[in-house]
Amino acid sequence: MTRTSPVIAQSEKRLLRALKGSAVDRAPFWFMRQAGRYLPEYRELRGRAKNFLSFCYSPALASEATVQPIRRYGMDAAIVFSDILVIADALGQKIDFESGHGPALEALTSTDDLARLAPSKSAPRLAPVYDTLALTKTKLGRETALIGFAGAPWTIACYMIEGSGSTTFSKAKAWLYRRPEAMRVLMDILVEVIGDHLIAQVEAGAEALQIFDSWAGVLPEREFERWSVAPTGRIVARVKSVCPEVPIIGFPNRCGAMIGRYARLAAVDGVQIDSGVPLAWARDEIPASVAVQGNLDPQLLVVGGPGMIDEAKRISDTLSNGPFVFNLGHGIVPETPPDHVATLSAFLRGEASA
Ligand code: CP3
Repeated sequence: MTRTSPVIAQSEKRLLRALKGSAVDRAPFWFMRQAGRYLPEYRELRGRAKNFLSFCYSPALASEATVQPIRRYGMDAAIVFSDILVIADALGQKIDFESGHGPALEALTSTDDLARLAPSKSAPRLAPVYDTLALTKTKLGRETALIGFAGAPWTIACYMIEGSGSTTFSKAKAWLYRRPEAMRVLMDILVEVIGDHLIAQVEAGAEALQIFDSWAGVLPEREFERWSVAPTGRIVARVKSVCPEVPIIGFPNRCGAMIGRYARLAAVDGVQIDSGVPLAWARDEIPASVAVQGNLDPQLLVVGGPGMIDEAKRISDTLSNGPFVFNLGHGIVPETPPDHVATLSAFLRGEASA
């Protein structure tokens, strides 16, 4: 059985048109981490919640955070305010965002720990995220698409096993090489819960989805296919079997030339490229049927000025011959001056000359 998103009648939204390969009057744009600490109104709002997770689980606060950047800059898409690590929380793993050094989780250390994860309890725990989407939907104008998201299984597994961020994710990789059977069990749990989470977001009003595989780039070729492409492909197939009309963007961060294979084999509609991906390569090697989303260096948004506009122009000029969504190569950083985001947004709308 397939269900149709209640919003699909509005599929003329620029983001959805671009992701489906239809003609657009100009390229749509939005920015990863467009809601966040660089905005004074976000910092004020964030101060009202006890901690980051309760902020994510408050539909009133999270939907306000979602629309804050849209009010200022009028991006073509709003991404629901949440986090990829709500999945670890919903599975019952202890997680704390308050350390000031990024997320801290009670790391999985043995296969026994896997048995304590509670996939059946995850949906009720995640219900506020769906309420946030439904509430946000009522606040957005006709032109703004609402994006739901999740982390990819490999990236979530990285945090669950490592217990924190890392440059190498050596513990998570040790699981792959030393205990692939245990990794397989964890990945099966994650594929299921993440798939359910994405489908529930569509049912609550998401019109497009993004899957963040932020740590795909630490995997060598064969492991990349096994633990990034294959599980993501399973999720895409599952979501598509229920909501075939909702476009899905994959973000295999920092995996260079393997992006082409990811786009083909995971069967995503769009692929987010990081700032390290050469533009001409992306134009020529990513299948023409797959939209490319990217890839301005977030540090250029911090610096601003003509350098930022020149590069935004080069990206748009090179990639606009195919389906294209303008974005950054990674998230907006807290030091970003809000004025620079305004300048870039005006340029992308064609309101200011370079
Ligand atoms: O506008 C948006 O994009 C907001 C929604 C959003 C957040 N996180 C909010 C957030 C999204 C899409 C994410 C994705 C996310 N979260 C990723 C994938 C993208 C990427 O960066 O590669 C990852 C790896 C995470 C995990 C995560 N969450 C980390 C490592 C951190 C700490 C680092 C940091 O920037 O503080 C978070 C916390 C977090 N998630 C914040 C925000 C706005 C900052 C928390 C705060 O306000 O104190």
